[in-house]
Formats: sequence, C-alpha cells, structure tokens
Amino acid sequence: MLNEMDEGAVSPRLAFYGLGNYGLEAVRIAHAAGVPIAAAYNRAGPKVGQDLGRLAGLGTDIGVIVQDCDTADYATSGVNVAIVAVTDRLSKNMPVYEQLLGAGINIICHGAEAYFPYGADPELAARIDALARANGVSFTGTGIWDFSRIWAGILAVGPSTQLRALKHYSVTNAQSATLDLAKVCGVTLTQQEFAEQNYDRIGDLYKLIPHHVLHALGYTVTKVTEHREPVLSEQPVYSHLAGRDLEPGIALGIRIVAEVETAEGVTATSHMELRILNEGESEHMLWELDGKPATKVRVDRTDSVHTSAACLVHRVPDVLAAAPGIRLVSQLGVLRPTKLAL
Ligand SMILES: NC(=O)c1ccc[n+]([C@@H]2O[C@H](COP(=O)([O-])OP(=O)(O)OC[C@H]3O[C@@H](n4cnc5c(N)ncnc54)[C@H](OP(=O)(O)O)[C@@H]3O)[C@@H](O)[C@H]2O)c1
Repeated sequence: MLNEMDEGAVSPRLAFYGLGNYGLEAVRIAHAAGVPIAAAYNRAGPKVGQDLGRLAGLGTDIGVIVQDCDTADYATSGVNVAIVAVTDRLSKNMPVYEQLLGAGINIICHGAEAYFPYGADPELAARIDALARANGVSFTGTGIWDFSRIWAGILAVGPSTQLRALKHYSVTNAQSATLDLAKVCGVTLTQQEFAEQNYDRIGDLYKLIPHHVLHALGYTVTKVTEHREPVLSEQPVYSHLAGRDLEPGIALGIRIVAEVETAEGVTATSHMELRILNEGESEHMLWELDGKPATKVRVDRTDSVHTSAACLVHRVPDVLAAAPGIRLVSQLGVLRPTKLAL
C-alpha cells in the first residue's frame, strides 16, 4: 500500500535548505511528483537569486527563487517542512535547525548524525528536541540508511526467539564521486598516511547505525566504540579516480568497525567498508543474527544519490504527521513510497 496523505492531513509546503548534490536530486524528485515547493535556501554565492527549477536542471523556471539562508524571512515563508542537506554534524547544522524550528518548520535532515541525535551528541539532541517541542514541530534524520541499514536491521530481528548478537557488514563504493572524497575514505593512502589522516568527515558517524538499531529494538545501550582500519589487497587494484594501479600496501578504502554492548547482554558488531569495489561487485548491506532463527537480511542497492534523495521526499507525510520533538525513522514506521513521490 502506498503511503498516501491521510484525509485531513496537512498538505506539504516544502522548502529545500542546501542545494548541492542531494538537495537538488530531492528537488527533481519532489517536482516530478508535484509536491508543492514553497521556498529554497542556500548560503551566499552564485546559487542565490537563481530559479530553483533552472538550478536543478529542470530546464524551466518553477517560480521559486533561491534565497540567502542568512537573510531569508522563515516566519512568513508559508513553509511547513524543510529538507536540510548541508553537513553531517549536528553542531554545524545547529544554526540551520534554530532558524527553521524557531519558525515552526518541521525538519527532514540528511546529515548522518541526524539519524540518531541522542547517540551522536545527547546535549545537542536535548536542545533540538526542546526547540522542536516548543514550536510544535518535529525533527527527523533520514536518507539511504533509513531502509538499507536501520530498517533492514530491525526487520532481521523481527522473527527471532533468541538473540545473542547482531552482525552488520556493508560495502559502499568509495569511488562514486571525486578523488578528494575517495581520499577521505583512505583510497590511495599509504598505511602511515591512513593512520595520520584526520577522520573528521566520516569518523563516529557509522557507529550510530548499530547503536540506533539496538536502541530501536528496546535494548539499553551501555557502550559504543568505533575504530578504523585500511582495506588492503595482496594484488594491485586499479583506481579509475586516481587513474593508476594501487599497489599492495596502499589503502583501497576504509573499514569502520563499531561495537555496541547492552545491559541485556545482546551485542552488535558492524564491519562497514567504504572502498573500491571488486569487479562485478555492487553496494550491499547485510544483517546477520546470532540466535534463533539465524536470519540474514541483505540489501543490494544502486544509484545511491537518487535513493537517498527519494528517502528524504518519501518521509514528508510521516514527518508532517509526527508528534513534536525528535522523531527517529525507527519510530515513524518502515519507509514506504509516498504517492507524493511516485
Ligand atoms: N543521510 C545520508 O544517508 C547521507 C548520504 C549521503 C550524504 N549525506 C550528507 O548529505 C549532505 C549533503 O551532501 P551533498 O553531497 O549534497 O553536499 P554538497 O553537494 O556539498 O551540497 C551542500 C549544499 O549545502 C550548502 N551548504 C553547505 N554548508 C552550508 C551552511 N552551513 N549553510 C547553508 N548552506 C550550506 C552548499 O552551498 P555551496 O553551494 O555554497 O557550497 C551546498 O549547496 C552532506 O553532509 C553529506 O555527507 C547524507
């Protein structure tokens, strides 16, 4: 069944805040589906003043002019829900949240920490939750992990009658964008460079996945750790971004290992690799149960940018219907395609 807007549900008047790779893909999805787009915001620069339709490559004006996010008047915008796609960190995004929540606008955030604010930064989470409640609106983090990692993990546990441990393995293509971004995942680095690299772009984000899943299942999480190691090969491997073979000893990417313990004794271990894919390999995620029945749930995914942007748009009806405060995707129900986005 499609996730239709209920009778009497609030109609979306959607805004986009952050008009990069993912924000503009979400604009194209929402526009194609006829979702009313009321406003668009970006920081100062060449995007401000352009028509959103042109900027998104629709080849036509849609009558929404991109506004400077620092000077826009949110209170009179008529917007009731905004898709925020700027940075991954709650601390960096906080001024954006204050602008939008303060103006009574619900937030759907693409930042990775927003999936599970309580795990990322409990103090900021409390502030976001209080601000949202005070303004009668909700805050939800979503994107591709909504279905491929968080709900996939929850679904794997559904039929279990005994659960000792959860294991999560994943492979993500580290070469889907630029060489600079691939290097953030360690691609082309020597082991010494890997050890010395600053992981402020991706560090401590992936551990939120098993933490969120065990929290959503009702466990009391007592300890969460993450460490990072280079993914190596004994054979030379060609990197199309670097335009050369990477010799053995040079990192093909990163393996992020996260471990979660609970008061109940159930644990979760995640091995998440962001690396050069092997020939014929595609991005995939696997959840495996140590328990009864020994279930596995595997997700093979394609077209990450479109998928993640679609998750943002598909959550619009859920977020408009949500009670005020932080609402995790694990609380909103499994992701369904909304009629709005088809
Ligand atoms: N949730 C998920 O599963 C998931 C998956 C993939 C990516 N992400 C995250 O999604 C975010 C967006 O990614 P992207 O590839 O679209 O990035 P991007 O192409 O760099 O776009 C970011 C956009 O936000 C604007 N911006 C950046 N900082 C801003 C600020 N402080 N205030 C106002 N506008 C700001 C940028 O403006 P300029 O044009 O002036 O630079 C740009 O338009 C990133 O944090 C990324 O890591 C999340």
